[in-house]
Amino acid sequence: MNANIGLTNQSATPDFNRLARMYLWMELLTFGPWLERCRFAFVSDFGACRNALILGDGDGRFTARLLKTNPFIHVDAVDASPAMLFELLRRAGTENARVDIHPADARNFNFPGSQYDLIATHFFLDCLTTDEIASLVRRLRSRIAPEALWVVSEFAVPPNSFGRLVARPLVGCLYRIFGVLTGLTIRGLPDYPAIFLQSGFVPILKRSMLAGLIVSEIWSVNTCLAKQTSNLDGNLLL
Ligand SMILES: C[S@@+](CC[C@H](N)C(=O)[O-])C[C@H]1O[C@@H](n2cnc3c(N)ncnc32)[C@H](O)[C@@H]1O
Repeated sequence: MNANIGLTNQSATPDFNRLARMYLWMELLTFGPWLERCRFAFVSDFGACRNALILGDGDGRFTARLLKTNPFIHVDAVDASPAMLFELLRRAGTENARVDIHPADARNFNFPGSQYDLIATHFFLDCLTTDEIASLVRRLRSRIAPEALWVVSEFAVPPNSFGRLVARPLVGCLYRIFGVLTGLTIRGLPDYPAIFLQSGFVPILKRSMLAGLIVSEIWSVNTCLAKQTSNLDGNLLL
């Protein structure tokens, strides 16, 4: 049984069930291929990982791709929406034998693994407050392997006129729409980078798209890895 170990007074869990089957189409109609590009930005870089924890996995597009590119990985997929998890299993096809689904609120779920070497949160941290992310990271810290990677895709508001005039209003509009559709009560992007840094994670790679409106990042607690990758060219800076 999963004891309630999250924050007290937490908001109601948003309900994405109604959106599960149309989620892909909603995304394609609004952002075309860009969110998918963001989600898959680093998916082929996780060949050495064996135990993944995917939070707010949604309809499983990242998981299905991860299982295809890595034939040895096992996935614990946590999502509050059973309908999303159903889509995930369907999408993963025969590879779904390597997936354990957990229909639960990640804010107070007792994670089953103890040596995750990959955590993935694609457009999920924005469903949490900064305090909820701090609590989540604290609970996960003891459950990850020393070489673990955390891949994040998120919306962002760049600190420039595009951010002020376009990104911020657009993100605000998305929050209001998802508030109506799912009951999500959050109305602003959380400061997850601050929490990650405070918790000993270091940024390894970052790719920005759509003028910085969406970002894909890899974080790690392995500082040696951070030093190695900071010398590489291309994609990466933080
Ligand atoms: C915006 S969708 C993103 C889905 C997917 N990761 C993607 O890249 O498209 C957010 C997902 O997180 C799930 N979710 C939101 N809050 C949650 C929570 N507190 N615990 C578990 N899942 C949650 C929703 O059910 C939904 O599937």
